[in-house]
Amino acid sequence: MNGAGANGGRPGGGAAAAHSLGWLVAANAVGVWLAVLLVWPGAGDALAPLTFGRWAPVHLNGQLYGWCALPLVGALLAWFLDPRHPSAERHAALAVGAWSLALFLGCLAWLGGVASGKPFVDWHGWSRPLLPAAMHVLWAFLAAHTWWRRRRLSRVGLAARLAVLGLLLAVPSALYWASDRSVYPAVNPDSGGATGTALLGSTLALVGIYLALPAMLGLAPHAGSRRVAPVLGAWLVCWVIFGLAGKGDVSHHARGQIAALGALLLWIPLLPWAWAGWAWPAGARPWLRAATFWWVLLVTSGWLSFLPGWSERFKFTHVLVGHSHLAMAGFVASVNGAVLVVLTGRAVGSGVFRAWQAGTVALVGLMFALGVVEHLDPAGFLGGDGVARVLLALRLVAGIVLAVASFRWWRETCTR
Ligand code: HEM
Ligand code: HEM
Repeated sequence: MNGAGANGGRPGGGAAAAHSLGWLVAANAVGVWLAVLLVWPGAGDALAPLTFGRWAPVHLNGQLYGWCALPLVGALLAWFLDPRHPSAERHAALAVGAWSLALFLGCLAWLGGVASGKPFVDWHGWSRPLLPAAMHVLWAFLAAHTWWRRRRLSRVGLAARLAVLGLLLAVPSALYWASDRSVYPAVNPDSGGATGTALLGSTLALVGIYLALPAMLGLAPHAGSRRVAPVLGAWLVCWVIFGLAGKGDVSHHARGQIAALGALLLWIPLLPWAWAGWAWPAGARPWLRAATFWWVLLVTSGWLSFLPGWSERFKFTHVLVGHSHLAMAGFVASVNGAVLVVLTGRAVGSGVFRAWQAGTVALVGLMFALGVVEHLDPAGFLGGDGVARVLLALRLVAGIVLAVASFRWWRETCTR
């Protein structure tokens, strides 16, 4: 795959790649530590009072706001920044730097025990305004560059950017509000988890971002322009289904919920078909093929695990942890792999690609196996010396493979 990135990169791409991969390395190191603690719980005494519960939000949020989000920030910068502006790269570095600083301070807060206790919206106390503030910094740069290049943009291009700026303006306030301990989304009364409507909405929003990615990255639409209308139509129909689906605390036993979440099955072929309409550089294609593999598994298993009977069985087991890693370490990371190739104009060697994919297959497979063992013997799961401990130890090995692969990924992308 080396040398395939002949596109020369995008404005701000280097900064976004360096920070997102840096967070991947750091959050993976924390993941390995969590895995060590699950095999040898006594090892935690060495770092007391930094317990498993203090490190867990660092792992989760480092992966979500660092690794998963920053390549999308990079795509925004690529689309908005005025390539003729002499300080475009410095502005990108400042925007991404402010984001990373907020996340770093957030990590200090979580390690210090200042956390809301709500996974992924742990921002609490003095750390609550940090990321919203960094988002405003990013927004200000995006708006300023739109203003500077307003006369050189087409009418449609300018209108699209203004619409996105309008939407983005709401995000920091929404995050601040969602971090409130007293704010809770609708709850599925039979599982205590998310409702089908909520899962459909959040995944549809993500699908929308992933559909827009190739255009934001400035790829040429070799078949894209013909595919835009049917894909956009299907996406809007799904939002209508979302609008009709039951709101509030609805159970996964309700047929309407099962059917509504089933609308996502349509995207198994549609998302890869939409991506294939764009001229991706050669180095991005293996990552896109991997993303397609994970996408098929994710949507199928995600929907099946929502069905009555299955959901109750696996809700509080490692099957759900497996789902999270399938979604984020498998699917999102593979999409990010393709995005980073475009942003930096550099492709990583096939060694990194293969190690990441093989490590993730092992990690996710072991988590699903752990979930089944956990379901069969919940009481003997932790602290025993049986099969669960062997699986936890193997998961640690898979985690180390991923941690090393991420370090090489960072080095090959950012230091050559
Ligand atoms: C990139 C896309 C996705 C991401 C990043 C993602 C991530 C997550 C995360 C982090 C959780 C919470 C796990 C926990 O509480 O421990 C979750 C739960 C869940 N997800 Fe996904 N997911 C994605 C796509 C999907 C899809 C496509 C489906 C179904 C078709 C799905 C179905 C579910 C279900 C049923 C739950 C359990 C809800 C509950 O009872 O709490 N997910 N997902
Ligand atoms: C070096 C590789 C990794 C290792 C060893 C690792 C390990 C772990 C461990 C031990 C947990 C706690 C779950 C438990 O109690 O058993 C966890 C949770 C989690 N990790 Fe990782 N992880 C790794 C990579 C990743 C990556 C790359 C992502 C996302 C891009 C990620 C996202 C998550 C999420 C979302 C959770 C919460 C799961 C849930 O509550 O359902 N991890 N990880």
